[in-house]
Amino acid sequence: MLEAVAPTLSQIQAPIAVRLDRVVAEFRRILITDFDGIAAINDYILQVRGKLFRPGILLLCNEVGSQRSPEAETLAAVIELIHLATLVHDDAVDHSVLRRGMPTVNALWSHQVSIIMGDYLYSRSISELARLGDIEPVRILAQASNAMSVGEMRQLASCDALDFSEAAYYQLIECKTASLISAACELGSLVGDESLRAPLALYGHQLGMAFQIADDLLDYTADKAVIGKPSGLDLREHKVTLPLLAALPELSESERSRVDTFFATAEPSDVEIAAIIDLVTRYGGLDYAKQMAVDYARRAAEALDGLPEGPPLEALRSSITYAVERRR
Ligand code: IPE
Ligand code: IPE
Ligand code: MG
Ligand code: MG
Repeated sequence: MLEAVAPTLSQIQAPIAVRLDRVVAEFRRILITDFDGIAAINDYILQVRGKLFRPGILLLCNEVGSQRSPEAETLAAVIELIHLATLVHDDAVDHSVLRRGMPTVNALWSHQVSIIMGDYLYSRSISELARLGDIEPVRILAQASNAMSVGEMRQLASCDALDFSEAAYYQLIECKTASLISAACELGSLVGDESLRAPLALYGHQLGMAFQIADDLLDYTADKAVIGKPSGLDLREHKVTLPLLAALPELSESERSRVDTFFATAEPSDVEIAAIIDLVTRYGGLDYAKQMAVDYARRAAEALDGLPEGPPLEALRSSITYAVERRR
């Protein structure tokens, strides 16, 4: 059963707070460079912590039915590093100017710097995996990174509202988001109770799907000051996500042609974006997307059925509610 009241991130992460601090220390250690040009950007992006959602669930998965392993903290740092690499690249691709409440690398430096910096973050994560010397995490993360690249490429192609299906949307978010969250869970159990790898990877997949649907909803509804990144950006960038896909079949012919015109407008204004958001809201697109997030959340909870009970499993259940109900 999922909780009625959404837990806060700090409640979920309280049992692993000390370990998460060690993850951040690991993260800083891995990133160290003696090249000033990169060190300055490192210092900048390390000023604000993200939610540490992926390292958090990796550690919780590590603790389900097992002894904790210090290696999990390094793997958690590696997964956050890969996540950060994709964000630095993603913000350049999406022309986004705000991340975690601060100007993005592309806004402050340049697109070129973002590409190189993303590559640097990736390459540091690979060096660290090489230092650990265990091939299985490499296999898991190579597969996830590969899927994420495919997902971001699919995203570029998803810019025609009337030619993009709901099935293609799920395929896209599976690649770009669920793959890494599932990898986090699998890695946690790999260095914990290995017999739980399959159910926890499945949990991570379902959780990741819910997480990205919630993100796409927040792009329609969130307050920029709370979420720390621009909202309405998906529409501005002509990205077709679930709320719009769900509303489309309900629109009248003239409303559909308004959507068509919108997608043909190179640089839509705030007023034009607000009008599409209004249309999507009126035709139940937000409600439908929320329902789908809740469906994936239910499947994530089912994946945990029968796993060893205890505080880590409880926190994994709370993480599901958090992913769907979060405001940032
Ligand atoms: C943002 O991830 C990218 C998505 C997959 C939606 P998060 O929402 O976890 O971002 P941070 O790390 O907390 O900033
Ligand atoms: C998720 O997609 C990005 C990655 C998985 C790299 P978004 O483009 O929706 O993420 P945000 O909204 O910029 O965080
Ligand atoms: Mg983006
Ligand atoms: Mg988004």
